[in-house]
Amino acid sequence: MRWKERSRAVATLALNNVRPYGEDETNILIDVDAGVIDSIGDAPFTDAAEVVDCGGKVLLPGLVDVHVHLREPGREDTETIATGSDAAAAGGFTAVFTMANTQPVIDQPFLADAVWEKGQAYGKCDVYPVGSISKGLGGETLTEIGLMSRGHVRMFSDDGRCVNDPQLMRRAIEYAKAYDVVLAQHAEDHRMTEGSCAHEGENAARLGLRGWPRVAEESIVARDLIMTRDYGGRYHLCHASTEGTVSLLRWAKEQGIDVTAEVTPHHLLLTDEKLETYDGVYRVNPPLRENKDTFALRDALLDGTIDVVATDHAPHGSEDKCVEFENAKPGMIGLETSLAIIAHIFVESGLADWRFVAKVMSERPAEILRLSDHGRPIAVGEPANLTLVDTQAPWTARGEEMASKSKNTPYEGSEFNTRVTATWLRGKQTYEATDDQKN
Ligand code: DOR
Ligand code: ZN
Repeated sequence: MRWKERSRAVATLALNNVRPYGEDETNILIDVDAGVIDSIGDAPFTDAAEVVDCGGKVLLPGLVDVHVHLREPGREDTETIATGSDAAAAGGFTAVFTMANTQPVIDQPFLADAVWEKGQAYGKCDVYPVGSISKGLGGETLTEIGLMSRGHVRMFSDDGRCVNDPQLMRRAIEYAKAYDVVLAQHAEDHRMTEGSCAHEGENAARLGLRGWPRVAEESIVARDLIMTRDYGGRYHLCHASTEGTVSLLRWAKEQGIDVTAEVTPHHLLLTDEKLETYDGVYRVNPPLRENKDTFALRDALLDGTIDVVATDHAPHGSEDKCVEFENAKPGMIGLETSLAIIAHIFVESGLADWRFVAKVMSERPAEILRLSDHGRPIAVGEPANLTLVDTQAPWTARGEEMASKSKNTPYEGSEFNTRVTATWLRGKQTYEATDDQKN
């Protein structure tokens, strides 16, 4: 790919010989000032201020991640809104939702506003704050869902913790319904996971690690689905991880219960066989499960039982990861490897096409959160939130080379074929792979 000299004031950008959704090659002209797609044509645009020959690379709508942890405020040593935005842009994302389990917890409007404004000031990615469901994630008192929803909060979650108390959950569902916001649940019955660090199964038993049983997730999912049936509202399940959860979601959707769910790239790809290494980088919550779970989750994403992929990008410093497995903090970074993994599992295997990737990583997430300017079609007049993808660019994942401030990637040294080469947010370039990365 050749990037022409940029003129001082770039007003138009041409993406020539590009394949939207991996389909037929075409040429796209972007009005950079307006941040929208200006025209799409048969002939390359040659007189734009900036002309990029995309050489047949795939163009996707900018990716949207409904579940990340950018750690600001409070743990800026592990990630900030700025470094997290850089990691998001490098992963092809133009919008992310950052969870409320910061220090302090995002449980008041002014804290949520500050997150939004910092993201906008940095300008690499739209960073939507998630508000907590309970004050301080204490699981006891509801936050001011109504007040926060008047600002920039469209999703509420105690993620990192489960809303265990059924009465609090019922009230939260009712409030979320009244204010028409999404309630995202981290399903984990904490009484059943006390002291657990790994999936309860043969591997954990053999290695002497205390198990986190499937039922701890599935019992909460079952309860919540029934509550949603009876009390309505927009319920979203975070990081579905078991075959049983898939069956419950399938049942709910068959009943017409209006719920949505996400799955992470790591639960689609990795299993508890990784425990063998005792490497804390593989500790995550919910834990890596078994082969049969990864396959059930893949099928569920393919048939729409699970709606979206979300990374649960969870940065941690080495002092919290390079320790005994049971003392490691749960979580792994994921923003910069997610597209490569989804392409590997679904596109390179022939299970699905790029339309599917656009659906589960951009369109559906934007639809669930009702974002009017993300996850839109690649068409004239639409916002130029775009991601350029090279499908034949072998690369090796290295934490040290990632934009994220933390390096806790479970894919260190793994090889992938697909890589994001550029990202644009409203026509402004937010990421460009360096030449050696582009190949
Ligand atoms: O692995 C996880 N890490 N799961 C969560 O739910 C929270 C997250 C974190 O905040 O580190
Ligand atoms: Zn999370």
